[in-house]
Amino acid sequence: MEAEVVGSDVETLRWKDDHLEMIDQRVLPARFEYISYDSAASVADGIRSMVVRGAPAIGCAAAYGVALEALRLRDMSLKAFRDGMEEAFEVLAGSRPTAMNLFWALERMRVRMDAESVSGPAEIAEKLLQEAHEVVAEDIRINRTLGTFGVDLLPDGARVLTHCNAGALATAGHGTALGVIRSAVESGKKISVIADETRPFLQGARLTAWEMVQARIPVTLISDNMAGHLMSRGEIDAVVVGTDRVAANGDVVNKIGTYMVAVLARRHEIPFYVTCPLSTVDLGVSDGSAIPIEERAADEVTGYRDYQWAAPGVSVRNPAFDVTPAELVTALITEKGVVEQPSKDRVAALFSS
Ligand code: MRU
Repeated sequence: MEAEVVGSDVETLRWKDDHLEMIDQRVLPARFEYISYDSAASVADGIRSMVVRGAPAIGCAAAYGVALEALRLRDMSLKAFRDGMEEAFEVLAGSRPTAMNLFWALERMRVRMDAESVSGPAEIAEKLLQEAHEVVAEDIRINRTLGTFGVDLLPDGARVLTHCNAGALATAGHGTALGVIRSAVESGKKISVIADETRPFLQGARLTAWEMVQARIPVTLISDNMAGHLMSRGEIDAVVVGTDRVAANGDVVNKIGTYMVAVLARRHEIPFYVTCPLSTVDLGVSDGSAIPIEERAADEVTGYRDYQWAAPGVSVRNPAFDVTPAELVTALITEKGVVEQPSKDRVAALFSS
């Protein structure tokens, strides 16, 4: 199917007839297709190969991966079921290393599984599926709440730069960074989006641009190296991005290039906002330098899909994320409210109420 208008309620993942279906984000916007999944290993593969991507969507996919495996093993002995489930948790945890939501979702599923210790595999599987559905429903609710908190930060008429895709496609729905923009538009504000292309995987050009066109929100695509120029000309009023993991001190890990945008925003006194569901916060790491940064394959940098433009034999670096120090962040936008100038105490306070 061609990726024509499907409305703004993109269903990134959906449960259908005992299977998980996920939009294949590798082929958007040329094609709009779902791929079907029936095991933890296949879901882990879908996460690794970026059929599904974006921290919250990865978490939702992992939750379904656990449930699918439980359903697959439900007729086994309790011992074989438990062994199989351990393998499922392991394979899912190894799919991508940076997104906190992956580990958050796996922990939540484990707690649910352990709470059913006296039940048999079939009952546990049923409970795990319910939990996965709840993770997805909760994600959409959180994004809507977070979006509402973000609305007041964007003036009417704002031209908002975003990097990568933190939209409906990166979540169960509505989006985080693009969720704030969607919520602002729903509130009656005129907002236009400047989408960084987001080298090397082009999430901005392919996914953010597609989502905004679908939602009929004005969007202008730029290559990543144009942001500074536009800022210096006064053509950007705010930056809103998502995050894969926020450290206890408020340092933000997000798609490679985000740090560059944050430095530019500070230089030009443009507010730099990070949308951050609490499931993305890792209180276990004191600062951003301790967060694992995924290194991806060289061919993402040397070319795109089958076409390679770089000189053969050149050595390549491909870190998929970078760290933006908390001092460059104007505010975190969370489902518990807006945290200005994030710090250790302010991040901790989010979890104490
Ligand atoms: O490599 P990706 O496409 O998974 O990276 C996604 C991002 O960097 C997003 O900004 C982040 O996951 C937040 S999505 C709400």
